[in-house]
Amino acid sequence: MSEYSSTHVKKIAKQFGIKVSAQNRIRGGIYRVVTPDGRKFSLKRMTKQTARLRWIDRMLMHVQRNGPLLAWRNPQTPEGRKPHVISRKGEIFVLTPWISGREPSPLSLTDMRACGIALAKFHKAGKTALKGGIFHSQIGTWYSTLHTRQQYIQKKIAKARANSFSRPISRFIQRNGPEILRYANQAKALLRSSEYESYRQSPRQNGVLCHGDGGPSNFILNDKGTYLIDFETVHVDLRAYDLYRVIYNSCKDYRWDFSIAKAILDGYREVTNLKKTDYKLIRVWLRFPFTTYLVLCPFKRFPFTESRLKWALDSERRISSFLQKLEEYETRH
Ligand SMILES: Nc1ncnc2c1ncn2[C@@H]1O[C@H](COP(=O)(O)OP(=O)(O)OP(=O)(O)O)[C@@H](O)[C@H]1O
Ligand SMILES: [Mg+2]
Repeated sequence: MSEYSSTHVKKIAKQFGIKVSAQNRIRGGIYRVVTPDGRKFSLKRMTKQTARLRWIDRMLMHVQRNGPLLAWRNPQTPEGRKPHVISRKGEIFVLTPWISGREPSPLSLTDMRACGIALAKFHKAGKTALKGGIFHSQIGTWYSTLHTRQQYIQKKIAKARANSFSRPISRFIQRNGPEILRYANQAKALLRSSEYESYRQSPRQNGVLCHGDGGPSNFILNDKGTYLIDFETVHVDLRAYDLYRVIYNSCKDYRWDFSIAKAILDGYREVTNLKKTDYKLIRVWLRFPFTTYLVLCPFKRFPFTESRLKWALDSERRISSFLQKLEEYETRH
């Protein structure tokens, strides 16, 4: 994807009617811009198609009216009138207020509880937004998503058997492939034995507007409350999916310490109850060896090394006892 010069960034902002006097590049495609009178905004390139973006925008404006704090446009302000603009390179940009505050820390149970509460409020407010109909739903795709990912892992294991990677990597995958596949199979078995089939038959009843990638980097805390940001992955799904994402993103770098998940779930349950099936569906995603899958995928953020693979497998093993604790939590509540 392309980079933008500061002149380019100014021109994009100008399409929203704002003048930029200072700017920082957060990463390629995300800029923090400041106006001469000191107002701060985030200018972000979105990779989704315009029809999808329009839907996301409609849903978020609805949610926003119902209370939850979001970093999204305010259509009442001049700069919030346009949902998005197109750059000269043909890429779509959105402009949202820049929320000052801090990232929640998984080491703070108070922060994690706040994230759980904010997620539940988002789901609650999104319910009415979906009254007009269910679009962009991924409720029905769970099985095929897990299956496709498992097949991808299987392909890599076959390659390792043929010694197609470096010697240490091939040997590591040869040795541990069966264990990794066992986790994938367990995830699919959990899904089959859950009430997923009946849930997916009634999306109107069970679908919620999901953020799609909740986690510490997509919440901001300040004295007004807990904000959600980064809405590119918004879609309709079962709420267990969002809870899984927040739990995964919050626990993965903290050795799968269950107290983090407990705080998130406690917060969520302060707003609304969770059912047995919700817990089971959260377990489905957590049990899939997603960390290993990410290392096997040619992603730039994870180097494909033996030590990364070891780290991922260590995660998958910790998740076993983590899931045990999740079951105990479920029984207690
Ligand atoms: N409106 C905003 N207000 C405050 N901070 C923001 C805002 N938009 C982005 N940021 C900061 O920039 C970071 C990256 O932005 P964002 O989450 O939108 O992009 P991303 O790269 O898709 O995120 P992810 O890391 O979740 O993949 C955020 O984690 C946050 O620290
Ligand atoms: Mg983000």
